Amino acid sequence: MDTFASQSPVSEIVTLVREACAADTNIFGYGIWTHHIVEVVRFGKRLARLCGADEEVVELAALLHDYAAVKDESLYADHHIHGPLEAEKILITLGYAPEKIEAVKHCIATHRASVALQRQSIEAQCLADADAMAHIAQVPSLMRMVYVERGLDIDEGTRWVRAKLQRSWNKLSPLARQMIAEKYDAVLKILDAPSAA
Ligand SMILES: [Fe+2]
Ligand SMILES: [Fe+2]
Repeated sequence: MDTFASQSPVSEIVTLVREACAADTNIFGYGIWTHHIVEVVRFGKRLARLCGADEEVVELAALLHDYAAVKDESLYADHHIHGPLEAEKILITLGYAPEKIEAVKHCIATHRASVALQRQSIEAQCLADADAMAHIAQVPSLMRMVYVERGLDIDEGTRWVRAKLQRSWNKLSPLARQMIAEKYDAVLKILDAPSAA
């Protein structure tokens, strides 16, 4: 996979997270790897380069930001709390420096739009942006969530996806908005299409 450096601790994390995504116990399906986490890493690294953020911290946080929820469904509601603890264990084992680990933990703790925690680093904003951008860029995976996992009907599912995308848009920085605006407008147009009466 081109996105990730090989022969490095990060490649071990890639393997760990990808395997957790492939496990039967992952309720989100393998698509959370292919259509979400990989996209968050891609957007996150791009943003980090543009903002002068620590690219390694953003990449590690992107890889691990939803890991707790993937590993254990019961941790989903508080995965911003469990995620930093999981990340800490993994990063200590792989020998990362304490300051890198703290930086990654802060990114994961503050990545959610629905959790009002102050982002105190440029890397945390990069991860929150990348997470939201991935939702906007990968609407089919949100569709899967509402229609397959939650079993909603067409209108309920559309409302849920629309609200999720609006929350994602609201948490974006001006730079991220600029990068994803065209796609966001296009998606909203589709979701607002009137149903045939
Ligand atoms: Fe998340
Ligand atoms: Fe996410």
